[in-house]
Amino acid sequence: MPVIDNRNADQIAYWNGAAGRCWTDQQQMQDVALAPASAALLAKAAPKAGESVIDIGCGCGATSFALARAVGANGRVVGVDISEPMLGRARQLAPPDTTLNFAPVDFVLADATVHPFAPAAADLLFSRFGVMFFAEPATSFANMRRALRRGGRLAFACWRTPRENPWMMLGLKEAYKYVPKLPPMQPDDPGPFAFASEERVHRILDEAGFAEVQMEPVDLFIDVAAGRGLEAAVQSTLSIGPTSLALENQPAEKVAAATQSIREVLASHLKGDTVPLSGAIWLVTATNPT
Ligand SMILES: C[S@@+](CC[C@H](N)C(=O)[O-])C[C@H]1O[C@@H](n2cnc3c(N)ncnc32)[C@H](O)[C@@H]1O
Repeated sequence: MPVIDNRNADQIAYWNGAAGRCWTDQQQMQDVALAPASAALLAKAAPKAGESVIDIGCGCGATSFALARAVGANGRVVGVDISEPMLGRARQLAPPDTTLNFAPVDFVLADATVHPFAPAAADLLFSRFGVMFFAEPATSFANMRRALRRGGRLAFACWRTPRENPWMMLGLKEAYKYVPKLPPMQPDDPGPFAFASEERVHRILDEAGFAEVQMEPVDLFIDVAAGRGLEAAVQSTLSIGPTSLALENQPAEKVAAATQSIREVLASHLKGDTVPLSGAIWLVTATNPT
């Protein structure tokens, strides 16, 4: 295990346990469902041929491979993540080295808060939903900023509020009809919605030393079925995020009742084999001052 910041220990355990397993099992579906967010973020980050990119919280690697394609054979991509199962999947999915016009991709098991990144070497720090899980985000971002050359760019996507993300909350709402509510989270607690507040993200990035911070709200549809029909949507809703946490270790009959409720609500959104639900993200960009 690499050196970690102990304040991140709970999240690190979570991403090496239940969450890591769910994301790895659901990797193909997640990558289809999150494709609209990837496309928007990649367009915003605008990786260029020959650039060196670090993909923070790269998970199973989909965006690392997209970046490797974008920067081409003269570029370089390093995917950093703290989850062994997810990095294991990323390594399995890696295209053969011989792929033309594809940058080498290295995956590193590390806590981005304390990892000794090669200083001032990267052109772009990138993340699709991988930077909201730090206990002390300003410290983590200050550490990551040191990896960027002067004038280098930061570009990441994070979720806006739970209310604006029914794709993640619809399952939880149904589950709460049958199981107790999860302990209330504070808005700053590490988790998917930790960067919902525009003011907080500005504060964190300013404190970490970034300049030219910009946040663009983008609304999109997330097909929780990933084009595979209603039952696939039910399974992905049950296994990802707060819904899976709420149903963990609950009596089988309650889980079955919640599942049926979720199925009925998702059915009302079914369009062909897709279940498109609204999602809301921030596209955040900044630079390392020159
Ligand atoms: C919501 S997942 C996103 C994964 C991937 N970027 C994607 O979009 O499929 C969040 C990722 O952040 C990683 N992560 C959480 N805390 C981390 C830390 N301290 N250092 C590095 N990675 C971390 C998790 O292991 C997980 O892979």
